[in-house]
Amino acid sequence: MCGIVGYVGPRPASPLLIEGLRKLEYRGYDSAGLAVHDGKTIDIVRAVGKLHNLEVALAAHPLAGSLGIGHTRWATHGRPVEHNAHPHAAGDVAVVHNGIIENHVALRHALEADGVRFSSDTDTEIVAHLIDRAMRAGIVDLFAAVRRALEQVQGAYAIAVVSRTAPDRIVVAKSSSPLVIGIGEGETLCGSDIPALLAHTRDVIILEDGEMAELRAGSVRIETVAGVPVVRAPKRIDWSPMMAEKGGYKHFMLKEIFEQPRALEDTLRGRVDLRAGDVTSSEIGLSDEVATSIRRVYFLACGTSYHATLAGRYWVEQLARVPAVVEVASEVRYREPVFGPDDLVVAVSQSGETIDTLAAVKAAREGGAKVLAIANVLDSAIPRAADAALYTHAGPEIGVASTKCFTTQLGALLLFAVWLGRRRGTLDEGKARAVLQALVEAPGQMRAVLERAPEVLAVARVWHSASDMLFLGRGLGYPIALEGALKLKEISYIHAEGYAAGEMKHGPIALIDKKMPVVVIVPKDAHYEKTSGNVQEVCARDGQVVAIATDGDDEITPLAQQVLRIPPVAEWTLPLITVLPTQLLAYYIADLKGTDVDQPRNLAKTVTVE
Ligand code: G6P
Repeated sequence: MCGIVGYVGPRPASPLLIEGLRKLEYRGYDSAGLAVHDGKTIDIVRAVGKLHNLEVALAAHPLAGSLGIGHTRWATHGRPVEHNAHPHAAGDVAVVHNGIIENHVALRHALEADGVRFSSDTDTEIVAHLIDRAMRAGIVDLFAAVRRALEQVQGAYAIAVVSRTAPDRIVVAKSSSPLVIGIGEGETLCGSDIPALLAHTRDVIILEDGEMAELRAGSVRIETVAGVPVVRAPKRIDWSPMMAEKGGYKHFMLKEIFEQPRALEDTLRGRVDLRAGDVTSSEIGLSDEVATSIRRVYFLACGTSYHATLAGRYWVEQLARVPAVVEVASEVRYREPVFGPDDLVVAVSQSGETIDTLAAVKAAREGGAKVLAIANVLDSAIPRAADAALYTHAGPEIGVASTKCFTTQLGALLLFAVWLGRRRGTLDEGKARAVLQALVEAPGQMRAVLERAPEVLAVARVWHSASDMLFLGRGLGYPIALEGALKLKEISYIHAEGYAAGEMKHGPIALIDKKMPVVVIVPKDAHYEKTSGNVQEVCARDGQVVAIATDGDDEITPLAQQVLRIPPVAEWTLPLITVLPTQLLAYYIADLKGTDVDQPRNLAKTVTVE
């Protein structure tokens, strides 16, 4: 998401900060800004849009000084306009921030009640005011004042702070969001990622969660927020510049696959109330009256997002007991669909711009339906056309083939289904709590599956020359069969089909022979007996089974050529977990074939034409 840079040393800070931000452009952003200390005071310049706009603004208003912080913002709280761009100032202090302050509403109210006037809609400005308050209350040392502020803040953050009163230092802190310190010759840098530093140093210190640091030109002091000193030697980085941009991964897609646990955590943050067994209502943005009055949920989406809505239908029917329809948006807009006030349309789109989904949303609203958008890009066209928006916080997805947007969409859809079920009285507190608990545990389970990536690579080595591949699944495994097949065809150009396992007998079974790999999603769930029966049927025709199965399921082992294991998982969250081996399989096969993984031929990330 956002990018942070900082510099303290003998050289002019402004060009160095811009150069660092340029290295972080791949993270995606919609505005940018710098704060530079000239020895006497701090001056801030910000601009909406690309870094070029910031450079134009700096040409008109140059920032002199050799200490500063910079930021590229990817909007989460507040529209992408100049007054929401970072740095944010309060009193003597200027702050840049990456992440989300979870308790921002309560903190903002408390500060406003105390007479603080905010000049932005961001959660970040709260941090600036908290530091300023601490300094006004007599904590003159910037490091100590930042600590006092952080004691009040919950959430995910990386911050960099400068103060007019401290012309020789930057204070940084990290919890969840990344922050790296670079040790140069008589100068110290910081950044959200190693690429921002590599032009100046290869010696870096990676800050850990719960740590803060004071950066001066010739020294770095690290402590935990609780005040325990930390001693950490710099590490020498030997990445190539290309590798650095991708965080050391060979492709953005692989990086994004591995970012999924974090992306899901960011999407759930502040939205799950385990104590009440409920979803934070304000996060959905629709009234309870909408939840209780509607008689149908109508999902609209395209591509990978469409596959997410197939799981959404399952959850809405099970948890909220409302009839649910799933439609490919490009088909809806050319029929004469009947929408009315009894419908709640849920439009799902990572880009928020897909023209077919947008047109279908407009048609739904014209028919009188209420529309909830689930999107990853703040203020994009589909959320703007909807009544309410529930944003996924996957961060920018660069790989054209969607991965982390898909799993965060699943997380958002399950939240939505719980919200609906609670309000309609079909889901009691205990069951809702169990579902939400499963969702909260999913990121950890995802990490465990991703650690097994080398096993998926071994399977990819066996099958990368296949000309066709079949994917089968049942229940919540069905959308994953479709998504697994889509991923494979998108990036490896291998012909692949996804099928409901129960439909195998009605066609695909004719394709099965000893050259046909069949990926079967067969976890230990309510459909296990039936799906493992399909595995038997494939084996009986010499088909080659790659099973995605649960740890400890030994019955499947003799039937399958290869087994990719997942840990035991609550049924609700299975698709979040079973999809991971399919993503990795597609990735490794494509990489072995040498295709352009991040920009596969003919495909586009955002489809704004019909
Ligand atoms: C394109 C993208 C896919 C995406 C689909 C729908 O085909 O390459 O990754 O699933 O559009 O896009 P949306 O932005 O609406 O989710």
